[in-house]
Parts: sequence; C-alpha cells; structure tokens
Amino acid sequence: MTGYIVGALVPIVFTLLLRSSKKVKKRGVPVDVGGEPGYTIRNSRFPSPVETSWEGISTLAELFEQACKQHADKPLLGTRKMILREVEVTEDGRSFEKVHLGDYEWLTYGKTFETVCDFASGLVQLGHKREERVAIFADTREEWFIALQSCFRLNVTVVTIYASLGEEALCHSLNETEVTTVICGNKELKKLVNISGQLDTVTRVICMDDEFASSATSRWTISSFADVKSVGRASPLDADLPLSADVAVIMYTSGSTGLPKGVMMTHGNVLATVSAVMTIVPGLGSKDVYLAYLPLAHILELAAENLIPAVGGIIGYGTPLTLTDTSNKIKRGTKGDATVLSPTVMAAVPAILDRVRDGVRKKVDAKGGLAKKLFDLAYSRRLSAINGSWFGAWGLEKFLWDFLVFKKVRAVLGGRIRFLLSGGAPLSADTQRFINICLGAPIGQGYGLTETCAGATFSEVDDTSIGRVGSPLPCSFVKLVDWPEGGYLISDSPMPRGEIVVGGPSVTLGYFKNEEKTKEVYKVDERGMRWFYTGDVGQFHADGCLEIIDRKKDIVKLQHGEYVSLGKVEAALSISPYVDNIMLHADPFHSYCVALVVASQHAVEDWASKQGVAFTDFAELCEKEETIKEVLSSLVQIGKKARLEKFEIPAKIKLLSTPWTPESGLVTAALKIKREAIRKAFSEDLAKLYT
Ligand SMILES: *[C@@H]1O[C@H](CO)[C@@H](O)[C@H](O)[C@H]1NC(C)=O
Ligand SMILES: *[C@@H]1O[C@H](CO)[C@@H](O)[C@H](O)[C@H]1NC(C)=O
Ligand SMILES: *[C@@H]1O[C@H](CO)[C@@H](O)[C@H](O)[C@H]1NC(C)=O
Ligand SMILES: *[C@@H]1O[C@H](CO)[C@@H](O)[C@H](O)[C@H]1NC(C)=O
Repeated sequence: MTGYIVGALVPIVFTLLLRSSKKVKKRGVPVDVGGEPGYTIRNSRFPSPVETSWEGISTLAELFEQACKQHADKPLLGTRKMILREVEVTEDGRSFEKVHLGDYEWLTYGKTFETVCDFASGLVQLGHKREERVAIFADTREEWFIALQSCFRLNVTVVTIYASLGEEALCHSLNETEVTTVICGNKELKKLVNISGQLDTVTRVICMDDEFASSATSRWTISSFADVKSVGRASPLDADLPLSADVAVIMYTSGSTGLPKGVMMTHGNVLATVSAVMTIVPGLGSKDVYLAYLPLAHILELAAENLIPAVGGIIGYGTPLTLTDTSNKIKRGTKGDATVLSPTVMAAVPAILDRVRDGVRKKVDAKGGLAKKLFDLAYSRRLSAINGSWFGAWGLEKFLWDFLVFKKVRAVLGGRIRFLLSGGAPLSADTQRFINICLGAPIGQGYGLTETCAGATFSEVDDTSIGRVGSPLPCSFVKLVDWPEGGYLISDSPMPRGEIVVGGPSVTLGYFKNEEKTKEVYKVDERGMRWFYTGDVGQFHADGCLEIIDRKKDIVKLQHGEYVSLGKVEAALSISPYVDNIMLHADPFHSYCVALVVASQHAVEDWASKQGVAFTDFAELCEKEETIKEVLSSLVQIGKKARLEKFEIPAKIKLLSTPWTPESGLVTAALKIKREAIRKAFSEDLAKLYT
C-alpha cells in the first residue's frame, strides 16, 4: 500500500516540474529530387539513401559469410527440443494438438555456415541447376534460414509463397516461376501432393521433417533435408556468389484482387532495407536475442533474420501458437517460447499485439479488486506521462509503476524485451499505447510494402505520437504527388497531401513476368532513381513524419463526373456520436452516395430513451424510420461542417446493429474496413438504398 501512495504522489510533482520540456524534433527534411514534381522528404540524418551499412558488402551472401567468420564460436540459431506431442480432446469433441517443448538447442555461427555450404553443395549434386529457381514453402524455422542462405551462395533465386495462399495461388506461383525444387515441411508436402498434377516444372522436393509421406508421388524425387546435407558434405562444391543486382527472392503476396504477384527483390534491395533497419533499433548488437516466429515469406521477417547475424545476435525460433505460456498449442503447465528464450527484440504484426493486449486486459479484469484498481491507476498515470514529456516518460515514476505493476506483464514475453518492431499493417493507437506502457519498450512502427522491400518510413523510438508512421527510412526518399481527382494536393494546408511515392535502393525491380503492371506503378527518373507509386495517400507533418490518410483506389466517379474519396468522407462522418463504424458506397451509375452505418448502441439508445422512442431490442431500434432519420441528419450536419460537397454526403443510409469485427472478416486486424467483403455481405441492403 505504501508504494501505491508514493506512486500516486510522485507523478504530481514531476508533472509540475516538467511541463515545459516539449520541443519539436525534425525527423525528416525536404530534399530536391528528380522525377515527377512533388513534395519529397528524406531522413534528417542521411542526405542520400543508404545502400549498405557494411563496407565492401553488397549482397546478403557476403553479409552472412562475414558474420559467420567474425562470430564463429557464438550461438546463432536455436530451436526448441520436442519433448512431447499429444492430442487433447475437449468435452465437445474438438481436438487440439498440444506440445511440451524443452530448452533451445543451439547451432553456432561456424556450424551454421558449414551446414549452409553442405546444403548448397547437396542441392547442386541432387541435380538442381543454378539458373533454375527454388521455392521455399514452410513455416518459419531453422531449416528455412539455412536453405535461404544456401541458395544465396549459389546465386539461385528463391521463390517464397505465403503459407495461407490457396491452392490456385500456389499453383500459379510455382508455375509462373518454373520452380524445379521445392523445399517444404511435411504439412506443406501434403498440400503439394494434392496439386501435383498441375505442377509441370517441379521435379524434386526436399522435406525439412525427417518423417514424411514418401509414398507421395512418383513424379518427384523426395529427399530429406538431412540427406541433402550429407550428400553435399561428401562432395563439396564451390560457391557461385551473386552480384548486388541479381534477384535474391521472388516474393508472392496476395493482392486485393486476382492472383498473387511475384515481387522481384535483388540482393541490393534487401541489403538496403537491412542496413536501414539497423540504424533504427538503438544499440542493436551481439547481446541481442531475437525471437523469430513471423512468416519468413514476409519481407519484414526476412529482413530481420538477415540483420540479426550481421550484428552478431542470436535467433531463437518459435511459432505464433507457442509464443507464450498460455498460447493455444502449449501444454498446460509448460513454457512458451518467449519465456524460455527471453528475447530482447521482437517483430510483430498488429494482430499479434492486439492479442497480447486483450490477454493482459482479460487477466486483469478477472483478478478484479485492488489489483485491477492499481493497474488502471498505473496505466492512466503512465498514459498522461508519455503524453507530457520525455522525462516523465522515463523518470522515477515509471520505475515505480514498472516495479509495482508492469513487471508481471512484461514476464509474458520473457521480461527482457527492449524493442518491438511492428509492420505489415497500421497499429491501432490503443494497442500502441498499451504495449508502450505495459512492456515499457518502444515500438518502432514501419510503413512499407513488399514492392519497396519494406522500405519507406519508420517511427523513431523517442517519437511517442500515435497514428503516424514516422519519417523516411535511411534507405528511402518519400514523395507526395498531387492527386487532383481525389482532392489531395501538395499545396494543401496545413500540410502537403498527395499520393505516396517511394524512391531509393530498396525499391524492387518489379513484378515477375508482368511488365504491364510493373510499368504502371514503377518509374525510373532522369537521375536513375527508381520510384514506386503506392496508391496510398498521405500527408507530411512539419517534423517530417508521414501520416497515411486514404487509399487511392477508394475513389469513385459518380454519374455526373464528380469524384468521391470514400476514405476522406468516412473519416469526416465517423465523428458523429451515433457512428461506431461507417462505409460509404458510391456507384458510377448514380449521382449520390449511400452508406452502411454500424450504430453506436450506447448513443442511439440514449437518444431513444430521451425521445421516448419505445423499442424491445437494439436491432429493432436500428430498423425504425425515426432512428435512421436522426442518424442521417447528424451525418448531414457534420458533413456540412466539414465542408463536404452535397454529393459526398450520403443521401440514404442503412443502420446496422451488429459491430464489424476482424472475426467476421469485415474489418482487418487493425480494424480498417474491408470494402469488398462488406459490399458482398450487404449487397442486398446496398441495392435497396439505391431504389
Ligand atoms: C546470377 O544468376 C542470374 C540468373 O541466372 C544471372 O543472370 C547472373 O549473371 C548470375 N550472376 C553471377 C554473378 O553469375
Ligand atoms: C500450371 O501449368 C500447367 C501446365 O502448363 C496447367 O495445366 C495448370 O493449369 C497451371 N496451373 C495454374 C494454376 O496456372
Ligand atoms: C486435397 O484436396 C481435397 C479436395 O480438393 C481437399 O478436400 C483436401 O483438404 C486437400 N488436402 C490438403 C492437404 O490440402
Ligand atoms: C494527450 O495530449 C493531447 C494534446 O497534447 C490531448 O488532446 C490528449 O487529451 C492527451 N491525452 C491524455 C491521455 O492525457
């Protein structure tokens, strides 16, 4: 209890003392560049885009070899020993696999390098020709990394495929790249066997698991990973190192429509990203331990796993389902990956951080009583401190709250996390704050695309603002160009706005065998710099940080030729207290917009009881003519205030009583609406609004 009181007093003193210490740091500055006119910002510390942070190193193969020589006797890769695997059946008859995993078993840098060389030789001895492509199709694990580095040493291009892609996409990717060797796990092998009839170019499969369905198919020779290594060890071959401009990886990612596209990344592209990321993680070095569990088919993870060896760090493998002691696949009473490894650095996607947040909240709520009160007080004190000043964020009060409250929360991820890297999608402000406070570790949030090799912007560790994606990475220039149809101009005030265009050495070569699409979104300027047109719309704050505000394809031309920017209008209207979520819909065959509005139950019921509107349940209330009228008039009022055009304000709306959640597939994990899914789910309602 004493701690509780001290904790409550100290902050007040500090807040009084430190109100005045705010100053604006310039994180990005304007720069003069070639290409299409626009407003361009560079990282304030790097006048021109960084290509490599290591002297004399221009490929990932060289980077890895150098690291292995420098740190030969240090551990590099760790995998947990499998102690027990069992199937648990719940009362309602569903079955779950549970595992009991032991300690990490380590491979040193020296041993890893040896294995990489052996595997590379084995691959060639098996008959794989160097100009042919290899696909790696598996969950993240040690063998994935080894196979990748082996291919790099042979100048063999690796094709990566999201494990979640369907059969059609898988066939398409393997067909298009004429892959001859697939390296996969047993689980993926089963998927491949299913479609073997459609895979004309594949002739051999290497399975990472010792046990596999060898009966698979007579079309392929199937070898185990261990066999390939020993074949290579018996008859070693020289490496065939690539150049910076050679294609290291063709990464297939799901597009919002149609078949996936293969993005061609050179060694130089990935090296630029790796070099840039190194500069943003403060003090990254040989003491760092990285927990690897995100898909390696994602550029964020691929870059991270190439960076860690370069600084002499340690990579311990895990999986999203075994991450913490309470993860789904962990047998009760045994330990999760983070607890055993105690990582210092992790990468995460927003969905995973949301899960951590919800888990902690649930636990605190379940405890209730004083524990919950203390947590809530600590949380709100930390929240206002972070908001206030730098010193408030790191001072004595922080120490107290950490000691009293957050230490236990931190233990969930092993207790030593000092930096979290988040990418892949925007992080919600709530989760960002929650993780900042509870883990006491900064989250670096990145914005980038597969096409820019994850390069673009990154929020620096001392930037505690939310909702922005930071200043340009050292490897990128970020330009805004006018998009008059969407109503976004670089001359806008208070901030320049426009389509986001990324330039620099991390901008990839383009889409494999798809010149047309490549020409549409990639441009090379008169100074030789490559630019990628992202289709995202952003604005630059005065300190050189970017904020994403819209998406270009979310624009519709109405019947009479007026353009409506859906995201802009939704953002304006969503401040109505009645709106929990909103999707504006415009149709080129009509002259007006309509909207689907998820009603805020609290606000709408409040209004109803004040007005004496009778109702039995919320769903019924949302159907009532007078409720719809009230919400619509609120939207019109707000729209006018926000100076929207008449045609931008919905003329008719449908009120929905059920929230849109990631589980329903109507919003993303970061709670961004998924237009296509919503349009499909409510197609009848939308059609009715236009009659
Ligand atoms: C690497 O492989 C590509 C494709 O097979 C080839 O065009 C390139 O010349 C090779 N690079 C070197 C250094 O041999
Ligand atoms: C792959 O190619 C084969 C033969 O060219 C064809 O039969 C099959 O349909 C193709 N699959 C896909 C998904 O394109
Ligand atoms: C194989 O294909 C069948 C039918 O298309 C499907 O039901 C099954 O789930 C597939 N198996 C795997 C492992 O993908
Ligand atoms: C944080 O600061 C902003 C403005 O500086 C203010 O609008 C907001 O209410 C503050 N939030 C908290 C939790 O103190």
